[in-house]
Amino acid sequence: VKNRLLTLLFLLFWIECFYAQPDSTDLKLFESFGTDFTWGAACAAYQVEGAWDLDGKGLSVWDDFTHHRGKIKTKENGDQGTDFYHRYNEDILLAKQLGMDAFRFSISWSRIFPEGAGKINPEGVAFYHRVLDACKTAGIEPWVTLYHWDLPLTLEKEGGWANREIIQAFEAFVRFCAEEYGTKVKHWMVMNEPAAFVGLGYLAGIHAPGKISIRKFLKATHHVCLSLAEGGRTLKELLPQAMVGTTFSCSTIQSIRGSSRNNKAVKRMDALLNRLYIEPSLGMGYPSDDLPALKRLKRYMLPGDSAKLAFSFDFIGLQNYFRVLVRANRLIPVVGATRIRPEKLGLPVNEMGFEVYPEGMLSILRQFSKYPIDNFYITENGVCVNDQLTDNAVHDKERIQFFRDYLSHVSQAKKEGIPINGYFVWSLTDNFEWNEGFRPRFGLVHVDYSTMKRTIKDSGWWFKALLTD
Ligand code: GAL
Repeated sequence: VKNRLLTLLFLLFWIECFYAQPDSTDLKLFESFGTDFTWGAACAAYQVEGAWDLDGKGLSVWDDFTHHRGKIKTKENGDQGTDFYHRYNEDILLAKQLGMDAFRFSISWSRIFPEGAGKINPEGVAFYHRVLDACKTAGIEPWVTLYHWDLPLTLEKEGGWANREIIQAFEAFVRFCAEEYGTKVKHWMVMNEPAAFVGLGYLAGIHAPGKISIRKFLKATHHVCLSLAEGGRTLKELLPQAMVGTTFSCSTIQSIRGSSRNNKAVKRMDALLNRLYIEPSLGMGYPSDDLPALKRLKRYMLPGDSAKLAFSFDFIGLQNYFRVLVRANRLIPVVGATRIRPEKLGLPVNEMGFEVYPEGMLSILRQFSKYPIDNFYITENGVCVNDQLTDNAVHDKERIQFFRDYLSHVSQAKKEGIPINGYFVWSLTDNFEWNEGFRPRFGLVHVDYSTMKRTIKDSGWWFKALLTD
């Protein structure tokens, strides 16, 4: 019996290992993207850096938010992050080891300008030089996001994105970064997912700065859209050779029962989640015909603003995780629709309750391909699963399957002629997942938060095998 058990265990072990090995279908899938395709892994300052008050860094809205009771599900905070501040070199080398061409990270505004504007913190400035130099030494291309949600707290105290004066402060921050790092960075992203940080931060109140106000939401929306275009213009003016982009979240929106009320709810949700921030930058204005609550945005528009909203980005980063199912609900302000929780319908979800719906990637790419944009990147896509670290390994076969499925839909979109030129995994390492704390693990690399030890998961080995062999 003992022998049989041992054989069985041995077989199971081999099946596990074999599963993480790419097969010929995986090879074909990766080949379908061609050799000019950029493969990368992403992270963001607040989620990984730690060193929240070290070396002259000022506080950001997230430093403040996470220190208030009841805001973070696990009562954790990003004070230590994954200690990227000290371990950036190891992480950059890991990204390279996995075969990535590009490493996407963000700059913490309050590390450079501790008070949001004015006084500069030289140690913060030097830190990003070290990160960029490490990328260069490792032979990996840095892709820099200028704003991934960590607004300097001093600026939030003056109204944050709901105060029009922020446009100037943001422009000065962008200008500084372009002048300081311009020779080292070719790819820039002005902002990360405005729909998320404005919607969750100023309307739903579940992300920093935790506001629940339609007025603040609308004002913040307009100032973010103006800042986005202004940031793009500043980068392009100072760095005409650079590739200037920005990233948007996007989700396929559907109703489960197609009545006319539900179909209208789908349109409203689509305007809110997919169209609100990209269309002004394309010169199309706000989608207020389909989401009437946006008509109130006019109150905050000054003469000349309509033209200022437009900027022609060199590339658009799209970030897709899940599908959104809705039904009409008049009681919900602004959007008049409720999201239906996928688990209630028995649909597959990840550890955060996001529906795993690979077909949604293709349909949202088809939707965005109707815009006059000729250069897309998937700047984030990934999944959190209940990873277990055993014997220095993480057998995350669900994550491998997730990438197989989502990537085959990206490949299909590319075959249909949609100009997608790269794909970034969210995320390189496990990290602090905003109001969810450290529990959801998205990394290709596992982080033990008590020792900060990094361990490449099977999904990481899978990418490495496909990208380097
Ligand atoms: C995105 C966000 C990332 C990461 C990811 C996973 O919306 O840009 O920072 O948290 O979601 O949920």
